[in-house]
Amino acid sequence: MDERSALKQLIDRDEFNFNDFLGEKTEGLVFDRRTLDNIYTLFKQFNIKYVDYPISSGKESLVFKVEGERKAAVMKIFKTSTLRFQHINEYIEGDPRFMKQRKSRGSLIFVWARKEYANLLECKKFKIRVPDPVAVEKNIILMKYIGDKKSPAKKLKDINQDELQPYFDSAMAEYKKMVEKAKLIHADFSEYNILCYRKKSYIIDMGQAVSYKHPMARDFLARDLGNMRAFARRNALSLNIKEPKFPGDQDEQ
Ligand SMILES: Nc1ncnc2c1ncn2[C@@H]1O[C@H](COP(=O)(O)OP(=O)(O)O)[C@@H](O)[C@H]1O
Ligand SMILES: [Mg+2]
Repeated sequence: MDERSALKQLIDRDEFNFNDFLGEKTEGLVFDRRTLDNIYTLFKQFNIKYVDYPISSGKESLVFKVEGERKAAVMKIFKTSTLRFQHINEYIEGDPRFMKQRKSRGSLIFVWARKEYANLLECKKFKIRVPDPVAVEKNIILMKYIGDKKSPAKKLKDINQDELQPYFDSAMAEYKKMVEKAKLIHADFSEYNILCYRKKSYIIDMGQAVSYKHPMARDFLARDLGNMRAFARRNALSLNIKEPKFPGDQDEQ
């Protein structure tokens, strides 16, 4: 998809409501005044020159390519209005790293953004292939752009069958490290949240990833692996990479 058609599609689908964007009616919109302030703060701090184009518009977030002095980056904005609070609370309350923050600080959505950022940092620490996190400001995350000048990296689900196997293996290898080394369970791992770029797979979309200490961690792991097995089956891929063991289980044999 070329850049202009991506933008046009989003506008045609009414994803960007320019009237509301400019007007006073800010309730329920992504670009409420506070979000604009947060964007401005980040842009000043990191020398971002302009928003290049929207990459994705989901129910709960918007992702844009932005241009800095020399480098492209990605800005992910969590929509303050539509994030399903009940739903996301499940992933925050059970995670010992974030339970305290939830109690002491006001807004759940800021905790959510910080959680994704912290998960990216943690993965980086263990050399797991994820976009480098750059900054988090309220409901916005800045991270490295994965892709070339023409277009962002494709998702695993959009890769041609004849190129799939190495990307699938690469994703499974990164996922194994994420579970066994960083001790994080992604909890939304699937062909939708894997970017494929220059023969390597990157894991993205980590807001919901939890510590293995979360009471549902084993179930989340089983679900993640179930998604990947189903994808492999549908696409006639082999399962070359050993599946991760739940942290701690290795020692108990
Ligand atoms: N760092 C990145 N570089 C390039 N594209 C990205 C990056 N992060 C996200 N995207 C694109 O934006 C889409 C949505 O991002 P994601 O983090 O999965 O949010 P959502 O919660 O909306 O699924 C992804 O499917 C991917 O196409
Ligand atoms: Mg996603």
